[in-house]
Amino acid sequence: MIRQTPYRLGILGSGKGSNMAGIAEACIRGQIPGQVALVLCDVGDAGILAKAKERGIPAQYIAPGKFRTKLDDDAERLYIERLRHAEVDLVVMAGFMRILKGEFLRAFAGRVVNIHPSLLPAFPGLQAWKQALDYGVKVTGCTVHFVDQGVDSGPIIAQETVPILPTDTATSLHERIQDCERRLYPRTIAALAEGRISMRGRQTIWTSSS
Ligand code: GRF
Repeated sequence: MIRQTPYRLGILGSGKGSNMAGIAEACIRGQIPGQVALVLCDVGDAGILAKAKERGIPAQYIAPGKFRTKLDDDAERLYIERLRHAEVDLVVMAGFMRILKGEFLRAFAGRVVNIHPSLLPAFPGLQAWKQALDYGVKVTGCTVHFVDQGVDSGPIIAQETVPILPTDTATSLHERIQDCERRLYPRTIAALAEGRISMRGRQTIWTSSS
């Protein structure tokens, strides 16, 4: 069935916003049949806010409250309220550095995705590219997954590999992984927007576009 209204994305970020920019451009190009309806950020001077405003996308800073790794209850409620008000179909975490708790995940059940810079379940958590380099693996990559209450533990939707070169530093490897993210995230969000991804247990099944 063809959707009448454009698919609406709510993006959460704390950093530079390169994934957000890539997703917004994919919407404009028509690769994603949708639009970025709202950007929310927990860091007042983060690049993602400026990048959103340059593109005419509504963007707001919402103070996270007193915790370092999660939103406090009042802040989480505000995030939910703003995203609901913007009528988002999908919540896209793009470098958002806080864990989302039960109330948020229940409000958007099955509709929250994240991108992580490793081939999960290897190297969850912070600086995953550095973890991979230090461990000595030969291949790493990036993963798009549904978000659950754990850290980088939800069902995997898509992955792409990045080889680790003998000459790599943490910076060069991170850059190549981010190039990979900018390809994989828009492609995966497009498939979600087109209703081409379904679940069987923890497995996600892709249907090809007609
Ligand atoms: C990305 O590399 C993503 O893997 C991680 O945070 C980074 C965000 O970068 N979760 P940006 O803000 O999209 O530039």
